[in-house]
Amino acid sequence: MGLRRSDYENYDYQDFWKDEKRLYEDMSERIALRKMLAPLQDRSGVFADIGCGYGRLFTEYRDFKTILLVDYSMKNLRTAKKNIKKYLGAGQMQGSSIHFIAADASRLPFRSDIIDVLLTVRMVHHLSDPRFYFDQVQRVLKDGGTYILEFANKRNTKNILRSMVGRMDTSPFNLTPSRIGDTIQNYHPSYILGMLTERNFNLKWILSVSNFRLPLLKKILPLKTILVLEDIYQRFLSSLSLGPSLFLKTNLEKKSSVQEQGDEIGNILACPKCCKSCLIIHDDRVTCRTCKVDYSIDEGIFDFKQ
Ligand SMILES: C[S@@+](CC[C@H](N)C(=O)[O-])C[C@H]1O[C@@H](n2cnc3c(N)ncnc32)[C@H](O)[C@@H]1O
Repeated sequence: MGLRRSDYENYDYQDFWKDEKRLYEDMSERIALRKMLAPLQDRSGVFADIGCGYGRLFTEYRDFKTILLVDYSMKNLRTAKKNIKKYLGAGQMQGSSIHFIAADASRLPFRSDIIDVLLTVRMVHHLSDPRFYFDQVQRVLKDGGTYILEFANKRNTKNILRSMVGRMDTSPFNLTPSRIGDTIQNYHPSYILGMLTERNFNLKWILSVSNFRLPLLKKILPLKTILVLEDIYQRFLSSLSLGPSLFLKTNLEKKSSVQEQGDEIGNILACPKCCKSCLIIHDDRVTCRTCKVDYSIDEGIFDFKQ
């Protein structure tokens, strides 16, 4: 049975991160992301954060020229827009190429071969079958494009120890995703890597993240100390892939791709129904010339969810 869709419209996701206890996880993810983004010195391309939430990680990729923040929750996108406007200042926001797009990750409203760098953090655990999403990532990313993916690792140290003392119902070693409640599932690294390899994503780097996610440790050690340990662990022990969260950096190799198409939003968007790029952008809506469907633009947020 598929996962039930998480209701982010009636949940304060930003509040989840306000808790001091999650500062360690937030910082660990930033440390990993900085390592992976640092070698990408050319920031003139199109960057997409799919399942961006309220834009928590925006400050890590703010230098890219064109930024697409995509999520199916309008509430999270509205918060993201407000936060980014506050961070950049209204003037800078107005002239920027930052776009907010409500859409399902498995039906991305973009042209093929249009995105240079694509990021997904804490989102694939909500997907019943990530293959449909990876098909989309493969379609919209350019040849040679970078895909950074974070996912919850079922084969982590804690689960291995729990299974050794008989405290796990399922084995952390088999490839079947493990359900956590009815809206989340954790994946075995080989399960995710298998799907990515099938789609010609070549693994460049793997980082094991939030390796010290233990309440007792967080209580007895200052945050700074745990983050130093985290950084060391990420550098030297990541290849074991035993952390509760894994970051993969991959490069996509495509057999054929179309030519440069420009990075204006009109050149990026495509109708999610017919996948054609013949969209007319009005002030309050976008119309597909082929299917004649209207998609609304609500407070500057493109809504392609229908
Ligand atoms: C746990 S939050 C992570 C947000 C952000 N990436 C972060 O790390 O702070 C998951 C986000 O993914 C979004 N999401 C879940 N399934 C989605 C889907 N099928 N398409 C688009 N967004 C989705 C949710 O609305 C939510 O904002």
